[in-house]
Amino acid sequence: MSLALTGLGVAAPERVVTNADLEAVLDTSDEWIRSRSGIRERRWAGPHESTASFAVEAVANALKAAGRTPDEVGFLVLATCTPDQLLPHTAAAAADALGMRCGSFDLHAACAGFVTALVTGAGLLPTSPGPVVVVGVERLTQILDHEDRTTAVLFADGAGAAVLEAGDGALLGWDAGTDGSLRPFLEIPPGGQHIHMDGGEVFRRAVRIVVDSAGAACARAGIAAADVDVFVPHQANTRIIEAAASRLGIPAERTVVNLDRWGNTSAASIAIALAEAEAAGRLHAGDRVLLSGFGAGMTWASALLRWA
Ligand code: UT7
Repeated sequence: MSLALTGLGVAAPERVVTNADLEAVLDTSDEWIRSRSGIRERRWAGPHESTASFAVEAVANALKAAGRTPDEVGFLVLATCTPDQLLPHTAAAAADALGMRCGSFDLHAACAGFVTALVTGAGLLPTSPGPVVVVGVERLTQILDHEDRTTAVLFADGAGAAVLEAGDGALLGWDAGTDGSLRPFLEIPPGGQHIHMDGGEVFRRAVRIVVDSAGAACARAGIAAADVDVFVPHQANTRIIEAAASRLGIPAERTVVNLDRWGNTSAASIAIALAEAEAAGRLHAGDRVLLSGFGAGMTWASALLRWA
């Protein structure tokens, strides 16, 4: 289907936290974090920054890039697993600050959130009264146990948004799935307040999930994964990314990696990486751009775009 991402935008928390900063407060090391995950630094929200404030900034930047105004937007989909409040949805606060009164909802599909929002938004677009805006946004530091080294060094905050319009590009194929029997491996346990992750169990499944899901999205478009021009995977671990890209036949120079500077921002990670790839001039008209996210649930979603 016809789909152009006419504007991309990012919001970055002000505070940069390096591995050395974490070494000072946790039983961990820069060497362990870099070699096991690929992360060198991440951005953490300050007290004045919220999920809604990151969404507002990213959406405003995306609308500006698209040459659109908030009142033109036909629908807003906000993907997050860290809403500011349980009620109302965070999109209501973001839309209010932006001066938008269109329909909106929050979408919770963990680290597959942005791709799920993109595919959902593309489905709304043909009958939408205006452009559809999708934003992946997290303030994961509010659900981190900052004394738990197995998660505190990995997760981070930020947002990425995209304006969806009909145009020269296309959504060529997509794939999504959930295996709920795996949900104990990455969860806030019932009654708990903090993320608990069995990283090894997630790791063991992640590569196969990305390979199968990204491969299915490509197959539905009749394209070999090896012919993808730009691969933007969820930014959880460089070893997962490298292994999945290698099995898909996509070389490193066509794979976007930015988790060394951002850490794991869950629903925001692919949106931020896509925006950075565009800003770096890595996306060209006609390029086949493959997005693939996976995470808690376990849930996954992949989309193959022809770039406008
Ligand atoms: O975005 C949602 C999806 N999430 C993911 O994709 C995460 C997937 N998993 C991973 O990325 C990796 O499993 C981790 C980066 C979380 C961990 O890497 P690993 O190579 O699987 O390490 P491990 O869990 O096997 O832990 C190895 C050791 C353990 O010590 P013992 O039991 O071998 O003595 C851990 O206690 O490393 C220890 N460890 C740490 N050491 C220093 C765990 N966290 C840390 C730490 N610093 N921060």
